[in-house]
Amino acid sequence: MSSETKPVNVTMDTIISLCKRRGFAFQSSEIYGGFGSTYDYGPLGVELLRNVRNLWWRAMVQERDDVVGLEASILGPEAVYIASNHVSNFTDPLVDCKGECKKRWRLDHLVEGQYEAEYGPTKHDKDGQLLCPKCGGELTEPRKFNLMFKTQVGVIEDESSVAYLRPETAQGMFINFTTVQNATRRKLPFGIAQIGKSFRNEITPGNFVFRTREFEQAEMEFFVKPGTDDDWHAYWVKERHEWYLRYGINPERLRVRPHDKDELSFYSKATSDVEYRFPWGWGELEGIANRTSYDLDNHARHSGKDLSYFDEETKEHIVPYVIEPAAGVSRTALTFLIDAYDEEPDKDGTRVVLRFHKDIAPIKIAILPLSKKEPLVNLARQLEKKLRKRWMVLYDETQAIGRRYRRQDEIGTPYCVTVDFDSLEDNAVTIRERDSMAQVRIAIPDLMAALSERLDDKD
Ligand code: GAP
Repeated sequence: MSSETKPVNVTMDTIISLCKRRGFAFQSSEIYGGFGSTYDYGPLGVELLRNVRNLWWRAMVQERDDVVGLEASILGPEAVYIASNHVSNFTDPLVDCKGECKKRWRLDHLVEGQYEAEYGPTKHDKDGQLLCPKCGGELTEPRKFNLMFKTQVGVIEDESSVAYLRPETAQGMFINFTTVQNATRRKLPFGIAQIGKSFRNEITPGNFVFRTREFEQAEMEFFVKPGTDDDWHAYWVKERHEWYLRYGINPERLRVRPHDKDELSFYSKATSDVEYRFPWGWGELEGIANRTSYDLDNHARHSGKDLSYFDEETKEHIVPYVIEPAAGVSRTALTFLIDAYDEEPDKDGTRVVLRFHKDIAPIKIAILPLSKKEPLVNLARQLEKKLRKRWMVLYDETQAIGRRYRRQDEIGTPYCVTVDFDSLEDNAVTIRERDSMAQVRIAIPDLMAALSERLDDKD
């Protein structure tokens, strides 16, 4: 896990153009000139996101007996975010350029040199004061900028109608802690998991879907007895690091970085980030925080409700500590895309391959009849209908077979099933594997089993 490791050999321009061309993700409201830093996911992006969600859910909820699910509302009353301290503390320091470009910057990112990849070395005046990275203009004094999207509910505009779009899914788990615990009769330690959209009015969104104002999170709040929290924190850091490796992320581009004390969030006693080496440098994929009893204490105090847990063993009421693995679904999907990208020379120039893990790949199988002639198409369509019941399948009969293979390589489809004229005679088809391009002939009655062997998990 050396920081000397070379970043992935692809530019963001290449990824962005592939995403648009092939229908993974593209600028939102594009026909109206685009809506700043907001993206829509196309047919392949939808499948990729769905796979990320499902695999996270499988590891965090389905495969465990100590975590249950929740889907809380996105819109929340002001009281929740006053109690959680997001109204007072969920801010970024912001500075404006007073020079030509008038651009807005995050002061902490400026200090960390995060704009250097795009704008060159950080600029200072003769007194050592920071200058605008873009035009070298003078900067305003820093101001605190709250990142939450504020809105109002109902027809009367007054203080009681103020609401917020959630800036993290986490608060839903805290305010429902007692209800879920009572309903499920869980004993500590146990967790509540949720996947859903969150919203932040980011000052400098960027790097495609890496930092956007609307994004999806996958978070789990794991409630533990105080005193066991450090061990559980270490446990979850390891679990989450391994999850990315399990789905094929290059270990050399992945690291765990504990936060320095001065970068901890206002609620955290300790946080470690799982980071990926993006084309522009190391970036956070997921944070695993020890939130202590900060949130439950605050909500209990503000709501006047008892959010403690009765420990049957000690006959005491305790307020659990919370370990929180918090991942970004959209950011993880982007990471899988970048990490999977590969190019290799071939006889027609360059073969672009997304070497997705089979469980991440949006399409698992492409059915390709060698010609559009009826008997072949009929057979291919029959196979397609059968395979669709089990896997995401794509049918493609246009253009030469070589080009169709390339099209599938470029979207990361692990297997192509080719139906040719011999298929009508020998009742067999060819399975072509994406990475090695190796081809094997399989009798049609054995096709389901052969694909299942390649695509499904072994018990
Ligand atoms: N509940 C804790 C929490 O929200 P966070 O580190 O602010 O912690 C967790 O967010 C994860 O959510 C991040 O690691 C990242 O993957 C994702 N995330 C946060 N802000 C994002 C944004 N503006 N755009 C895309 N993903 C974001």
